Amino acid sequence: MKTLKIAVLPGDGIGPEVMQGALAVLEKVAGQEGFGLDCSTWDVGGAAIDNHGVALPDATKEGCRAAEAILFGSVGGPKWESLPPKEQPERAALLPLRKEFSLFANIRPGLLYPELVQASPLKEERIPQGIDIVCIRELTGGIYFGQPKSTTELEDGDVEAIDTMVYRASEIRRIAEVAAVAARERGGRVCSVDKANVLETSVLWRKTVTEFFAKEYPDLELSHLYVDNAAMQLVSNPNQFDVLFTENMFGDILSDELAVVCGSIGMLASASLGKGENSHGLPFGLYEPAGGSAPDIVGQDKANPCAQILSAAMMLRYSFGETAAADRIENAVKKVVKSGVRTGDIAFGADAVGTHKMVEAIMAELG
Ligand code: NAD
Ligand code: IPM
Ligand code: MN
Repeated sequence: MKTLKIAVLPGDGIGPEVMQGALAVLEKVAGQEGFGLDCSTWDVGGAAIDNHGVALPDATKEGCRAAEAILFGSVGGPKWESLPPKEQPERAALLPLRKEFSLFANIRPGLLYPELVQASPLKEERIPQGIDIVCIRELTGGIYFGQPKSTTELEDGDVEAIDTMVYRASEIRRIAEVAAVAARERGGRVCSVDKANVLETSVLWRKTVTEFFAKEYPDLELSHLYVDNAAMQLVSNPNQFDVLFTENMFGDILSDELAVVCGSIGMLASASLGKGENSHGLPFGLYEPAGGSAPDIVGQDKANPCAQILSAAMMLRYSFGETAAADRIENAVKKVVKSGVRTGDIAFGADAVGTHKMVEAIMAELG
């Protein structure tokens, strides 16, 4: 029997709450589709700081290396915010994991079912058919990782902090390719987002992307927007976009905007991929909800488990080629949400159910 070797990193806050649901769903579809699961669970983030003194213990890293995909919850929260910045869960665990495995391509599908348009803050007449966009975010470059990065007390008594935004043309080309491949499978349109009227990195981004598409993907329709305009267009007319494609920090911000335009951050799954392959000859990846540890609702059975469950579905699809199982999960989530069983973030005034009930409904729909 084919067995999927998965490193499970629930993390902090609502991470463990929604991970429980994703694991139950995975077990169910594994039985239905006839594959086995070999899941090992590892501490990461604040949980790892509490238990082992560091956010990314060696054992966790090794566990990820030994696996064929990582299913990640979320990390961070108020408890660890007073630690030195470099030791905090986000910078000491999540970013190093992305870098360690060169997961440069972050795919975030912004999907709003027509039945859920009421959950979007946008007026229904702007999105009568719902929304279907995919955001491709560069994930291992830009201002997140560029050097120097420092805080210095100056001689005049002032304090100066520096972050550096760096991109190489080769980094831009490899993420442009991911956007192009996604567009070929969809509507054939890519909108590249930058700030080429101000930033050197964006000038290089736009030039590289333009040349790359002209040479390699002339059949695709490429457009460019400045990030400020893109943020506005995303709320004024989201359906003009097919594939939205951008650098690391712009993608972080625009994807949260995309999430809420599509109903809630609790629905937005993601896949982070690189060039590495697992033993199935498919991309090794890290799969996580786009949202965070949601300290404001932790422990209240309020978190929407869909983003975590849909991230597990993306994992089955991309890292294991289990298309039928992924379809099953995505259809079950869609059906349950359409039926009106919804957590508070997408209930929009109607009666909401808790995390557990939402998972139960998805499990029941799976049959
Ligand atoms: P957040 O995404 O955790 O929360 C923002 C808002 O969205 C909150 O109101 C929260 O309740 C809501 N929300 C998020 N996920 C939800 C879900 N599944 N269901 C229902 N509502 C949901 O962002 P934040 O408050 O800025 O950050 C909190 C912590 O999470 C910080 O430490 C931050 O660094 C961390 N964070 C981690 C990740 C990650 O691990 N991938 C991502 C984003 C933020
Ligand atoms: C995300 C998160 C992370 C990011 C943080 C927690 C480091 O916001 O995955 O979107 O900025 O990439
Ligand atoms: Mn983010």
